Parts: sequence; structure tokens; C-alpha cells
Amino acid sequence: MLELLAPRAVRALGIDASHDMLSIARVRLAEAGLDHVQVRHGDIYDIQVPAGSFDLVVIHQVLHYLDDPGRAIREAARTLRAGGRLLVVDFAPHGIEALRESHAHRRLGFSHEEMAGWFAAAGLDTETVRDLSVDGAAAQPLTVTLWLARDRRMLMAGLDAADDGRA
Ligand SMILES: C[S@@+](CC[C@H](N)C(=O)[O-])C[C@H]1O[C@@H](n2cnc3c(N)ncnc32)[C@H](O)[C@@H]1O
Repeated sequence: MLELLAPRAVRALGIDASHDMLSIARVRLAEAGLDHVQVRHGDIYDIQVPAGSFDLVVIHQVLHYLDDPGRAIREAARTLRAGGRLLVVDFAPHGIEALRESHAHRRLGFSHEEMAGWFAAAGLDTETVRDLSVDGAAAQPLTVTLWLARDRRMLMAGLDAADDGRA
């Protein structure tokens, strides 16, 4: 995600609880020459940055590992500036129970309603939801969904033409 999005960012920060994953990310970011991107060890429930730090937060394929996804969404929302956006990428509801055992999944996907509820509780409005499917393919065992939400606060400026020196 950082490789994909960082060329559009002034600064970007990736957080993961796994040192192994961070090592892989550091190598890939260095190879891509993305010097303005950092990765840092951390917990998605307690991101060590001030409130309002980011224009965009992406939670990519992490939520299904968590006991409390709503708490992670609230913490992500805390780090957004007013009007900032949160993109969650994860699985639509599925029935592949084996993933609990083989890949430590705690949740077998998320419904649109469940995600919208967590967004609303975190002060976010759902903007777009997209289920990714392969055209012409038979029923997919795993569908990836993109949920995009926006912080509902606004940054407003009230300028009086007489006061701004341009009257
Ligand atoms: C499928 S990987 C996705 C990694 C990365 N987001 C990406 O898209 O390439 C899931 C990652 O979630 C991380 N993770 C799980 N629980 C976490 C937590 N509480 N805080 C931070 N990262 C966590 C794991 O360490 C793992 O690297």
C-alpha cells in the first residue's frame, strides 16, 4: 500500500506489530526509492501519533486478525484530520472456517452494515463501498471489499472581504 500510495503523499507512515513484516517493507521501500516513507513498530489500537495527523489512513488486510475491529477504526479515526479519509480493505463475509486455524483469522469477513456501524460510531461517514470481483468468474470463495469513509468534521474559513486586504 505504501509503495502504491506514497508517490502521491508528502509524508507517509506504515505501522505493523510484526518486526519481520517491517523488515520486508523497509527493503521494498528502499528499493523503490521512497525516502519520505517510514515504517514503525506499533499497535493498531494505540497508534503513537497525535490526533489529526493524517489526510488518509489505510487499514489493509489487518482487521480480520483483530478481536475488536471497531476499536481499531476509532483509533484510526482519531489520527485523521477533519475531513480526512479512512480506507479499509478486507474480506466480505465468507465461510472458510479453516482460515481461523491455518491463518489465525478472528473474523470471517465483514458485512457492509457492520462496517458502516463502526464508521458511524467513530464519527465517519461511509462514502463508497466496492466489492471486488473478477468479471465472468464463478462465485468467488473470497471477495475483497473496499470501504471508504470520511471524517464528518469540516475545516471552514470565514473570510471577510473587507478584512483580508483584497477589498
Ligand atoms: C495480511 S498482513 C497485511 C500487512 C500489510 N497491511 C499489507 O497490506 O501488506 C496482516 C498484518 O497485520 C498485522 N497486525 C495484526 N495485528 C496487529 C495489531 N494489533 N497492530 C498492528 N499490526 C497488526 C500483522 O503483523 C500482519 O503483518
